[in-house]
Amino acid sequence: MERVWKWFAIRGRSVNSIAYSFHRITGIVLLIYLILHLGFLTSLRFGESLYTAFISTTVKPETLPLDSLLFLATFYHAFNGFRVVLNEFGLFYEVRRALIYLMTLLTLIFWIYSTYLMYTYVVR
Ligand code: HEM
Repeated sequence: MERVWKWFAIRGRSVNSIAYSFHRITGIVLLIYLILHLGFLTSLRFGESLYTAFISTTVKPETLPLDSLLFLATFYHAFNGFRVVLNEFGLFYEVRRALIYLMTLLTLIFWIYSTYLMYTYVVR
């Protein structure tokens, strides 16, 4: 368990190692979300009332911040994952630190814009 807490430690670690921790954390978040998502959809097989009961717990303004955090995890994992793939093919390896900063910047831009769109068009 102590080793898991080290994923969150920032002091004394390289940017690359911190990016690796975030990638693992966001990967696990996406996996948990996927399992819940499929669980919610599968509940339809046991009747529409159960499905509606499940969906009503998440489709409300109070849970929108969770959607926003899901956007953050998704964009980070996708952009950083793309960077890992590029580096593993030997591409841009000499500027890998700069690439991490670029992917983090893209993540923040996409995250803020998608959250803005969600609050503009979903919340009325
Ligand atoms: C745009 C889509 C995605 C890309 C480009 C991507 C890329 C990657 C890459 C390159 C790795 C290996 C990282 C490394 O070896 O350093 C990885 C790990 C992982 N991904 Fe993704 N991924 C994507 C979507 C997903 C989704 C949808 C899920 C969950 C349902 C997911 C869950 C994970 C998990 C759990 C790991 C293992 C992390 C670890 O071992 O530390 N990924 N991903």
